[in-house]
Amino acid sequence: MDKAHFGLIGLGVMGENLVLNAERNGFSCVVYNRTTAKTEEFLAGRGAGKRIIGSTSLEDFIAKLERPRRILMMVKAGQPIDDLIASLSPLLEEGDLLIDGGNSLYTDTERRVAELESKSFGYIGMGVSGGAKGALEGPSMMPGGTRSAYEAIEPLVRKMAAQVDDGPCVTYIGPGGAGHFVKTVHNGIEYGIEQVLAEAYDLLKRSAGFDGDAIADVFGQWNATEELASFLVEITEVCLRTKDPEGGADLVELIVDAAGQKGTGLWTVVSALEMGVPVPTVYAALNARVLSSQRVERIAAAPVLPAPPAHPIELGSPADAMAPLQDAAVLAAIASYAQGMALLKEASVLHDYRLDLAAIGQIWKGGCIIRARLLQRIQNAYTTNPDLPNLLVDPWFAEQVNRRLPGLRQVVAGAALAGIPVPCLSSTLDYIDSYRSPRLPQNLVQAMRDCFGAHTYERVDRPGSFHTEWLD
Ligand code: 3PG
Repeated sequence: MDKAHFGLIGLGVMGENLVLNAERNGFSCVVYNRTTAKTEEFLAGRGAGKRIIGSTSLEDFIAKLERPRRILMMVKAGQPIDDLIASLSPLLEEGDLLIDGGNSLYTDTERRVAELESKSFGYIGMGVSGGAKGALEGPSMMPGGTRSAYEAIEPLVRKMAAQVDDGPCVTYIGPGGAGHFVKTVHNGIEYGIEQVLAEAYDLLKRSAGFDGDAIADVFGQWNATEELASFLVEITEVCLRTKDPEGGADLVELIVDAAGQKGTGLWTVVSALEMGVPVPTVYAALNARVLSSQRVERIAAAPVLPAPPAHPIELGSPADAMAPLQDAAVLAAIASYAQGMALLKEASVLHDYRLDLAAIGQIWKGGCIIRARLLQRIQNAYTTNPDLPNLLVDPWFAEQVNRRLPGLRQVVAGAALAGIPVPCLSSTLDYIDSYRSPRLPQNLVQAMRDCFGAHTYERVDRPGSFHTEWLD
């Protein structure tokens, strides 16, 4: 084989699948893994009979690549990426290009882009979403860095990405860490929607008394609607129908109720707080995971803090696809997207990313974990008005909010009386009610701040900064 078009380092499941995807799309590949046995196993197994060759050292790997070299790194985020860059840098030549396809913290990517570009190498921080299956069949890809570096990989990633009606699910996102930032926010939205669906499941189980199959039927109904048709709703139905192979019980009921996380949801919330963008639905989802993990404490607290007496919640019926609950789920999913998009909008200004929010809606329509039919509406909203302050005020979304808000109120109120926690649904209601309020009670907060700390306040009736001696 001549020199390979493309190189991949790190034969984890995502790495293996991405290299198989590249090869299937016509690019010959060379792979390197720290453990050579892993490379040999891959080449003898899934990589056999394909235009993929192995390498035994980084020097060997570099020698087998055509120039300029295009190298995708699929290793653990953080120090392992820095270590790999340090080992590769002395071997690279001008114009060679490194791509970090992991979930790196965007500020790390900013630093790496600057360092590598200063040595005349290209560096792309590329968010990749779609899980193992998506990596193989076509993920959504979010590459950031300099545009010229992106252009060097464009033919490759356009073929590798998922394809939807209006093109591949990849686009140049923006400079520096823009690609990894957008992937982080994608994951924050994912946290929100996952928690919303978990809350709907909990209400259907604890309040309506449905079993796994009955709840799965509801999710199946929702997945047939424009507003909720999505990968996450689809897999929720599958999870709920799956039985334990030993005993036949609903498998989800045998899973410990403590959710893990790898960090991107946390980074979304931290960035949002730093940038002054409210993301309460996403934040509630993150807190819900953290609280769920305090399982021992929760179990100990249960008898000390007993639940209120049973209280019925009007969730609707299967005949109307649980209409009020569906309204609540739709609005909380919309709020997750709205908050994520608002965060992208602010980050775009702060970091001069020049993000094209319509294009981001487009590349999330296929391949990624948050792919959903609703993304066409999001794409439309930002195509019509790129400066839209918030998705909630786009006419199509505003109509959804106004029509479905009574259902959300009913569900949140009922859950509160029944003592069933619905953090994402209730945060969504507060978010919408706050966002549509011309006057909020923070005038009193300002008064208190001025009273104890002379922090000053502004007045509604005249310009300027004012202080009052409140305690005299
Ligand atoms: C991933 O990137 O692997 C997931 O989409 C998010 O992972 P988490 O839920 O473990 O943080």
